[in-house]
Amino acid sequence: MLPFSQRVCLITGSGRGIGRAIALEFARLGADVIVNYFRNPKPAQETVRQIEALGRKALLVKANVGELDEIEKLFQAVENEFGKLDYFINNAASGYNRPALQQRPKGWEWTLNINARAFLFCAQKAVPLIQRAGGGAMVVISSPGSQRVLPDYVVVGASKAALEALVRYLAVELAPLNIVVNGVSPGVVETEALQHFTAIWQDKSLIEKAQAQTPAGRLVTPQDVANLVVFLCSPQASMIRGQIIAIDGGASLPAR
Ligand SMILES: NC(=O)c1ccc[n+]([C@@H]2O[C@H](COP(=O)([O-])OP(=O)(O)OC[C@H]3O[C@@H](n4cnc5c(N)ncnc54)[C@H](OP(=O)(O)O)[C@@H]3O)[C@@H](O)[C@H]2O)c1
Repeated sequence: MLPFSQRVCLITGSGRGIGRAIALEFARLGADVIVNYFRNPKPAQETVRQIEALGRKALLVKANVGELDEIEKLFQAVENEFGKLDYFINNAASGYNRPALQQRPKGWEWTLNINARAFLFCAQKAVPLIQRAGGGAMVVISSPGSQRVLPDYVVVGASKAALEALVRYLAVELAPLNIVVNGVSPGVVETEALQHFTAIWQDKSLIEKAQAQTPAGRLVTPQDVANLVVFLCSPQASMIRGQIIAIDGGASLPAR
């Protein structure tokens, strides 16, 4: 029997990129998966197709996690289809990338609502469903910009710092409910998000530089992140609580 048989997992922003890799890894390990997307139905339908090809159930839900009524709709769909939830993975992210002095309230609200507020209010909806499963886990995907200063990343960095604080608070508050809460913080991962940064930073050699600065000699892949996320949801990781685990091939270690 597969380790996540009979388990149900929701991953926000799982139509493509890192979220898709996480969704497929849960499916490979036996879980049924809720695939959430916002703007791009085609890749999300492809994620669903691949999950079903693995013999698992997949539920596709369009919802902007930056809107509270859409979070409500997302969790209502989970309840209607599965009646419970075992794992909630907060992966979706967006952001207004520009220098601090050019930021406007709209960009702050958009970014903070999708990247940080969503986790708090998704967690409130997830808890009763996870309790029906007898306990489970939540994992957020953060970024090194929560602590380090990256170009044009100020509001995303602030949102990821808030997200990491929520992880610590929820890890303590949800521990008596048998819910494990942690985060992962990947280094540079080659996804469409990286193409966006290559364009706004006007740096075509971003990937080569990141690779050269990684002691492990290669970039982190979406699959590396997925492997860590499923580990944090496994019984073997049950004594890891409220931690943000860097997965960057050692890139953040050398002093520069
Ligand atoms: N790539 C990296 O180098 C890197 C490094 C560190 C951390 N991370 C983190 O890893 C996570 C995934 O990143 P990625 O590189 O896979 O990003 P990506 O390729 O840009 O994908 C972003 C995903 O989030 C979804 N999304 C965006 N806004 C949403 C919203 N309001 N509601 C629901 N879904 C929404 C997108 O769905 P649609 O396509 O449907 O809009 C898409 O599936 C993010 O939290 C990111 O901050 C990435």
